[in-house]
Amino acid sequence: MSSTAYTRPSKPPGPAGERRPPRLAKELGRIEPKKLGIGLVAGCCLALLTYISFARLFAIYSPVFESTSLVMKNAPPASTQQNPVLAQQQSKAEDEKDVGEDETDRKVPSFAETTEKNEEEETVTKPCRSFIHTGDEAEATISCDENGVDEGFPYARPPVCELTGDIRISPKEKTMFFVNPSSAGAFDGNGEKKIRPYARKDDFLLPGVVEVIIKSVSSPAIAPACTRTHNVPAVVFSVAGYTDNFFHDNTDVMIPLFLTTSHLAGEVQFLITNFKPWWVHKFTPLLKKLSNYGVINFDKDGEVHCFRRGHLGLYRDRDLIISPHPTRNPRNYSMVDYNRFLRRAFGLPRDSPAVLGDKTGAKPKMLMIERKGTRKLLNLHDVAALCEDLGFAVTVAEAGADVRGFAEKVNAADVLLAVHGAGLTNQIFLPTGAVLVQIVPWGKMDWMATNFYGQPARDMRLRYVEYYVSEEETTLKDKYPRDHYVFKDPMAIHAQGWPALAEIVMKQDVMVNVTRFKPFLLKALDELQE
Ligand SMILES: *[C@@H]1O[C@H](CO)[C@@H](O)[C@H](O)[C@H]1NC(C)=O
Ligand SMILES: *[C@@H]1O[C@H](CO)[C@@H](O)[C@H](O)[C@H]1NC(C)=O
Repeated sequence: MSSTAYTRPSKPPGPAGERRPPRLAKELGRIEPKKLGIGLVAGCCLALLTYISFARLFAIYSPVFESTSLVMKNAPPASTQQNPVLAQQQSKAEDEKDVGEDETDRKVPSFAETTEKNEEEETVTKPCRSFIHTGDEAEATISCDENGVDEGFPYARPPVCELTGDIRISPKEKTMFFVNPSSAGAFDGNGEKKIRPYARKDDFLLPGVVEVIIKSVSSPAIAPACTRTHNVPAVVFSVAGYTDNFFHDNTDVMIPLFLTTSHLAGEVQFLITNFKPWWVHKFTPLLKKLSNYGVINFDKDGEVHCFRRGHLGLYRDRDLIISPHPTRNPRNYSMVDYNRFLRRAFGLPRDSPAVLGDKTGAKPKMLMIERKGTRKLLNLHDVAALCEDLGFAVTVAEAGADVRGFAEKVNAADVLLAVHGAGLTNQIFLPTGAVLVQIVPWGKMDWMATNFYGQPARDMRLRYVEYYVSEEETTLKDKYPRDHYVFKDPMAIHAQGWPALAEIVMKQDVMVNVTRFKPFLLKALDELQE
């Protein structure tokens, strides 16, 4: 009986239109037991507890374990190391492309500009007046969101402070001086507030994040003199942590940055701590789309930058999921908005998948993401052949350092298929309405499969098909006898914590039974024709 809860037999998918409504994640307790196929009340409670403890586990460890080796190291990973001459040429070409795009973009009202301008923005974009001399002309305000809780996702509420008034940022001193004659806000005995501005509240990572101080001073005379004055708001954030894992590049930096600044339509100055030149270079097309000004390296800069408005830290939500929130997401941005932003930034042409059918004669395009390290699809060529037989035009590719290049490949596809892993993050480049197929390896990975990729797909208004491999389809069967707890009780692996999960579950390869898999591909095809 207990094995029912642990083995999730992959059934041929039910009829179309059965898709679950979005926002499932916050109702784990209600939905998940249904998924497990047990109606027992005890089962419900057990499931809920288990899922909450999973969340704790992933608050501490990265959901994508390969990245842990990169933590706290600023060196570029192997994937971005390339021939320097080539890299230079490429970067030049990219820069030229960016400039061209930016110009066209500015003529067309961009998505961000369609947001109604509010009073705040108007104050911000007004030419800088003599506030530096008078200091108290603008009322000093500070509001911090530091103790938010998202049950089950503790890392999803990093601290953020918003300031208005006379703000003087001195990167050399790692300090934002805040002229605060009326002593607004809560500061410690030294008039300071310290924040590590990485948008993932994860105790394991935070020691590696530069700590930035907001220092409340009673008069402008005590603050350092401005050497540069900006007419737009400042946003100070870190790119430390798990960046360069593509999942985390998005969940911990780019989506939070989009959420925090997209309404400013480029009129914002970024100051980046834990500055990694290769990372900034890699994401330049997106950074340029969000800010009309070159980024400031907070680790090296020697100026005192003055602003009338500033953010320390970024708002974020769950992983590849953005929900409306009165203060953290007051403009109700969704992942669909983020997808559109990416398409504009990279110049991706397709907003919706191909129209299929007799009239067009078009073949649906499938992109299979190949993993060459762990969780390989061993019979990828058989699966590709089956897909071709079913009428797909198949491309196989591996994601690499060239984000734009891969984004173009993904955007050209109608169906994206991959085994569970960071590569599935590339679903953000699919046209709205396309299909994501996730192959979930053995080991009771429902929580991860759902929260990291399945629910996000629904949030992005993609169609989603998931395939859970059976014990016959995993290489774990070559390592463990069938009566081992790896097969009889996979939850026991989770109970041992991340190291066991990383060593056992994350390192398997899969060999899909094409007979069993076929109905899922047919379902993907059906979804496209709906
Ligand atoms: C955002 O959504 C909430 C409901 O979730 C709604 O009350 C509010 O008016 C929306 N705000 C905007 C700016 O659309
Ligand atoms: C493959 O799946 C089919 C359908 O579920 C099943 O009948 C068959 O035994 C499986 N083949 C192997 C080798 O497990």
